[in-house]
Amino acid sequence: MDGTDEVLVLAEVTRGGPEDVLEGILHCPAARCRQEYPILDGIPLIVPRVRAYVQDNLPHLLSRSDITPLLEGLIGDCCGPGSALDATRQYLSSYGVGHYDDLDPETPSSGAGSVLDLLERGLELAEPLLPGPTLDVGCAVGRPAFELAARQQGLVLGVDLNFAMLRVASRALREGIASYPRRRVGLVYDRREVPIDRPGAKRLDFWACDALALPFADDTFALTTSLNVLDCVADPRQHLSTLGRVLKPGGKVILSSPYDWSPGATPVESWLGGHSQRGGEGGSSEALLRALLSPGAHEASIPTLRLFAEAEALPWTVRIHDRYSASYSVHLVVAEALQDPDGPQSG
Ligand SMILES: C[S@@+](CC[C@H](N)C(=O)[O-])C[C@H]1O[C@@H](n2cnc3c(N)ncnc32)[C@H](O)[C@@H]1O
Repeated sequence: MDGTDEVLVLAEVTRGGPEDVLEGILHCPAARCRQEYPILDGIPLIVPRVRAYVQDNLPHLLSRSDITPLLEGLIGDCCGPGSALDATRQYLSSYGVGHYDDLDPETPSSGAGSVLDLLERGLELAEPLLPGPTLDVGCAVGRPAFELAARQQGLVLGVDLNFAMLRVASRALREGIASYPRRRVGLVYDRREVPIDRPGAKRLDFWACDALALPFADDTFALTTSLNVLDCVADPRQHLSTLGRVLKPGGKVILSSPYDWSPGATPVESWLGGHSQRGGEGGSSEALLRALLSPGAHEASIPTLRLFAEAEALPWTVRIHDRYSASYSVHLVVAEALQDPDGPQSG
């Protein structure tokens, strides 16, 4: 993680076993690194500044999973609207519903505008695919990664920085239950415990990693997905470049975005479009993304990614509560990884 190519070693297993480590420590053996990375609830935290991550995420890392919905509701009322707990429950509700509502017998949804539709369309457009491992970046509570594991033959890894969401994904993987709060109104949430099928689960895992500093060697993955993550990261171009770095030549990235830029997530200077209407792309995020994915077309083009296919406007719905859902129109692109012109030449 400090820029070495060293492979992390499993230094301690304190819960679980070697096949499924629930709690333990990973260690970087490089002499100038020696960094330790915790594994909690089956989720390795392999992030660049692990101490800062642990400090910033302490309430999530140490949160209890044994609280009944009754007491959780009372604690939610005590914390009130706008609290950190309220924000976490809203995220878990929106993405829990978005990913698993179609499997919940008590809340049958139409499934229209789901992230699974985006994944399906992306996979169609990305054909033919190379065999090999798949990475879902910004996996949230995990359903697209489950779908990828069911369809692909290789390893599938879902990564995200939100530990509360990763914990939902990790429990779904280990116990076959997607458990999340479903917001009805205000501070009123119903706990959902949705049983899921897990074909391919033995080839699937969820890790805490930063989309801007993926801890993988160059040319590792045959497929990466980044569904609705581009406008959530501090440096979207860096995200694209990192996806290009970890893909094998000929591998593909499926990327969708509603371009819902906000300064809280991304400083305005780093937005892809959405400002500077007088410039070459007229402020268009779509045009700028296309240029970035066309080597040589723009001074900031990614040299290792080439636009392969796209769909201009696909529906994506994020449910907030019983009477409010946000409807997005999402731009989906598939890009193919090229040999790095500055990297070692093959052959
Ligand atoms: C809008 S949600 C999309 C989730 C999921 N892909 C979907 O479409 O349902 C964005 C996700 O990206 C994650 N995320 C944001 N910044 C990230 C980063 N730097 N590294 C990894 N994940 C990040 C968030 O925690 C969140 O789960």
